[in-house]
Amino acid sequence: MSLLLILSLVFLLSWNVAAAGDDDQQKAFVQCLSNSTSVASNISNIVYPSDNPSFSSILEFSIRNRRFDTPTTPKPLVIVTPRNVSHIQSAVLCAQSHNLQLRVRSGGHDYEGLSYVSPRPFVVLDLIQMSNITVDVANRTAWVQSGATVGQVYAQVGKSSNTLAFPASVCNTVGIGGIVSGGGYGTLLRYAGLAADHVADVQVVDARGRVRDRASLGEDVFWAIRGGGGNTFGIVVAWKFNLVTVPETVTMFSVTKTLEQGPTKYLAKWQKIADTLPNELLIRIVMYKAVNPVTIAVVFNCLYVGSKDKALSLIQESFPELGVTPEVMFEMTWAQSTIQFAGVNGTTLDSLESRTPVKDVIYFKAKSDYVTKPIPDSAMDGLLKMMMQDGIEQPYVIFTPYGGKMAEIASNSIPFPHREGNLFKIQYLVYWKEDSEEVSNAHMKWIRDVYDYMGSYVSSNPRAAYINYRDLDIGENMNSSTGGNGTTAYQQAKVWGVKYFKGNFERLVKIKTAFDPTNFFSNEQSIPSLGAGKEGQTTSSNSSSSASAPSGDSDGGNNAGNETQSGDNNAGNGTQSGDVGQGDNNTNNNNNNGTQIGGVGQGDNGNSTTQTSASVVVRYGPRSYYYLVLLFLVLFI
Ligand code: FDA
Repeated sequence: MSLLLILSLVFLLSWNVAAAGDDDQQKAFVQCLSNSTSVASNISNIVYPSDNPSFSSILEFSIRNRRFDTPTTPKPLVIVTPRNVSHIQSAVLCAQSHNLQLRVRSGGHDYEGLSYVSPRPFVVLDLIQMSNITVDVANRTAWVQSGATVGQVYAQVGKSSNTLAFPASVCNTVGIGGIVSGGGYGTLLRYAGLAADHVADVQVVDARGRVRDRASLGEDVFWAIRGGGGNTFGIVVAWKFNLVTVPETVTMFSVTKTLEQGPTKYLAKWQKIADTLPNELLIRIVMYKAVNPVTIAVVFNCLYVGSKDKALSLIQESFPELGVTPEVMFEMTWAQSTIQFAGVNGTTLDSLESRTPVKDVIYFKAKSDYVTKPIPDSAMDGLLKMMMQDGIEQPYVIFTPYGGKMAEIASNSIPFPHREGNLFKIQYLVYWKEDSEEVSNAHMKWIRDVYDYMGSYVSSNPRAAYINYRDLDIGENMNSSTGGNGTTAYQQAKVWGVKYFKGNFERLVKIKTAFDPTNFFSNEQSIPSLGAGKEGQTTSSNSSSSASAPSGDSDGGNNAGNETQSGDNNAGNGTQSGDVGQGDNNTNNNNNNGTQIGGVGQGDNGNSTTQTSASVVVRYGPRSYYYLVLLFLVLFI
């Protein structure tokens, strides 16, 4: 009995003392930030400790996956929403000096929640207030801050010119900071490649709090930052993009085949031609379970970068089996086509820019594969059958064709390696709504079973994957939670690293080691630094030291002579207004009439505002000291 009492006491003391440790870290971090006059003068608008009444609504604003928004999900000690570069510098330096991990969030779409969840005590740097976009039509470039969404960029480019475009995601709500850090593909991938292929310059805050540009970073780091993964080399504040030229008119069309129409023969034909078509034509396939009646809808979503006449003759010649007629083809500007593909509520470019939290965020899990030789009909039939499995709410499988520009760019041009030789990329996705462990396990099992089933038909050695479809099933660093040394992390990282980066992984490790030797920027799938003795930590872990946070009021005059914006950056520039929710799709699962254009995602384009709900804050703190005290108590009471 007395032993039981002692153990209970030990547990309670351990928990409270650890929480007190986190409270101290939280207070010290906030104090450190307020040493910067720039932060101090804005503190109530940019610094949100976990007991701030706005904390939960700010945290939840950009969460896209309910798997990482539960009562037991670790929460940050503080959220910082910087409005200028000096705020970011302060956050980096203060996080280091107080041994806190920093997670940076732009759009919050990370599939595994890595931009707002960490197993170690952490702060979130949320760039939502930094979304300035400046389009230079004459030079066909744009400077874009990382906190902007892809939709905001599309809208600004579209409003500036009918003949300029930006090749990024299919979905408008994705954040620029994360998507470009991992590549970023959209409907122009066969025409122009990835978003990361078009980066001309950057503004980055490094682990020492310095503001760097392409010239001061050097070409190695500039290479790595264009696709080597987010939260790995520094905080990318802004990107300069080379825009691409498009005709004033593009053409969209869409055709759906259902199980009853024997989709396998269409899929077989598509596999033969999709990667060999002219660069201007994209035929992307979205397969999902439709209801009323229950079937699998196989939707061929097409974009032709050119006129309807040319599109019609090309599709009738190359894929007559689809039965495309002029009536299902629509001409529009490229910017208008992005509204259709994203399935946004609305028809104007303004609707692309709106940013509100998703109403009723649901659970999802995704995985990816690359295909280098056609998948046999029998395997395709098996995949369709798995999609019909009872109890699986919203399964999706998406085929994105490669070839075109994707095959013309060398596989080591940027870290994203999936170029020539790939026929198409697969994304497997599954969504569910119930708050039930059983339902959750069933859906997670389903997608893992599908992935296992497809193993014989996709790329191997390595089985390649797309980093922006983050999947912790394929491997995870040891460093983030267990404090493994550099060698261990390298071996662990190689498992997932070669899948995402193939031969570019080793170069990324070398660059990371030289640029961020203490591995300050890290997460479960960040490139390891071989120089990090204690990974994820700085060499100084003195929590009482005061950081050398910049004290200037502006950006501290620290732009390293580059040409990026250094002003106050759009404080209150409307990023929280508007009425588009997740907006990526609109697939209501009952559409088998050939009209579906949007990609997939969470559906509901909610018009709601976020519910501010009390959240249980689960904190993890450095406890070794307290355990020693407790051991003493146990031994001597
Ligand atoms: P988020 O803010 O979660 O960041 C993702 C990662 O990048 C995190 O590790 C984060 O720390 C890091 N990061 C963010 N900002 C950074 C910065 N400024 N500097 C350094 N690191 C930073 N992809 C695609 O290519 N084409 C598509 O069409 C789509 N569509 C799509 C739809 C939906 C609904 C989702 C949920 C996702 C996609 N994606 C996608 C995948 C998307 O590209 C991927 O999730 C991106 O990482 C999201 O970037 P965010 O900034 O939104 O995420």
